[in-house]
Amino acid sequence: MTVITNIEDLRLMAKKRVPRMFYDYADSGSWTESTYRANERDLQAIKLRQRVMVNIDDRSTATKMVGVDVAMPVALAPTGLAGMQHADGEILAAKAAEKFGVPFTLSTMSICSIEDIAAHTKAPFWFQLYVMRDRDFIERLIDRAKAARCGALVLTLDLQILGQRHKDLKNGLTAPPRMTIANIVNMMTKPRWCLGMLGTRRRQFGNVVGHVKGIENMGSLAEWSHKQLDPRLNWGDVEWIKRRWGGKLILKGIQDVEDAKLAADSGADALIVSNHGGRQLDGAESSIRALPAIVDAVGSRIEVHMDGGIRSGQDVLKAWALGARGTYIGRAFLYGLGAMGEAGVTKALEIIHTELDLTMAFCGRTQIGQVDRSILLPGSYQPAGR
Ligand code: GLV
Repeated sequence: MTVITNIEDLRLMAKKRVPRMFYDYADSGSWTESTYRANERDLQAIKLRQRVMVNIDDRSTATKMVGVDVAMPVALAPTGLAGMQHADGEILAAKAAEKFGVPFTLSTMSICSIEDIAAHTKAPFWFQLYVMRDRDFIERLIDRAKAARCGALVLTLDLQILGQRHKDLKNGLTAPPRMTIANIVNMMTKPRWCLGMLGTRRRQFGNVVGHVKGIENMGSLAEWSHKQLDPRLNWGDVEWIKRRWGGKLILKGIQDVEDAKLAADSGADALIVSNHGGRQLDGAESSIRALPAIVDAVGSRIEVHMDGGIRSGQDVLKAWALGARGTYIGRAFLYGLGAMGEAGVTKALEIIHTELDLTMAFCGRTQIGQVDRSILLPGSYQPAGR
């Protein structure tokens, strides 16, 4: 039995257990994947200052994200098709997050529906919204999130069109998977996954199928996104969405200081510095390099969060030190989910928490609130006001 000590162990296990098209969907970026790789690489390049002879007893990583108590500044990111990494994946991940004390964010493109998550959890989860051309459907979706008492709406700004992901195109990604010879042969090597899928009825995009006229089977995600996502989405839309929703609003997908200022002007509660995990504009800067300038420009007006490349608690601490008041893990929890279901997501959260706590201590801090840029080696991170 392998002893699992880090997120990479979970990734390797997920790769063995999840059918190739869904593993690849999670573990890929767009075009050359340069931004996908840069997200992790630039986090690793940041160096920490070790301090000694400080009383590091009695530590806490607890804080708040948009006013919500969190055990550490980490939320589960909205990820499409999590219910294809493992049967009922979104329900399992939401349960793990609830027990751990961090927010779970359900994607519009999930397999389990808003109502499924509400039925299986007590803590308010967050809902991520993609805006489609069919505005009636979007209004109904917002109302469904309200009825489920979601704690925040995460509006994604950077996916009016889909970045080209070569692996998905080559694999012919669909949900549920088409029964081609190649898929059947691949699935025969994943017996646990198949058994799980046979035991659930949740195998389609649960928030959408049956809720939009004419959509009984979305088939190819790329094709459906192309037809449905609204390329006209603009800042004016944030206003009506905010009004209709009426709760906490988080804007996801900001990379540029000018956009960050507009996000702050919009009256949203938080923005997420994000390049969509390197899945949209390949060649965009890594999130961790984009972060400091955005924090300096708008951090006093709006809570700044970040995602992209977080694979360890050290990454969380570095992002926090550079001003992120919350981070999101996507792949890091999906690997756990694919590897071991709910227990794997819990494991991913435990790993990240332990790494965060120990690293904070080595840097001579006992409370996350005491951590700032002074724990980082100057010159190893993107300076402010570049
Ligand atoms: C959807 O959000 C995706 O990145 O595939």
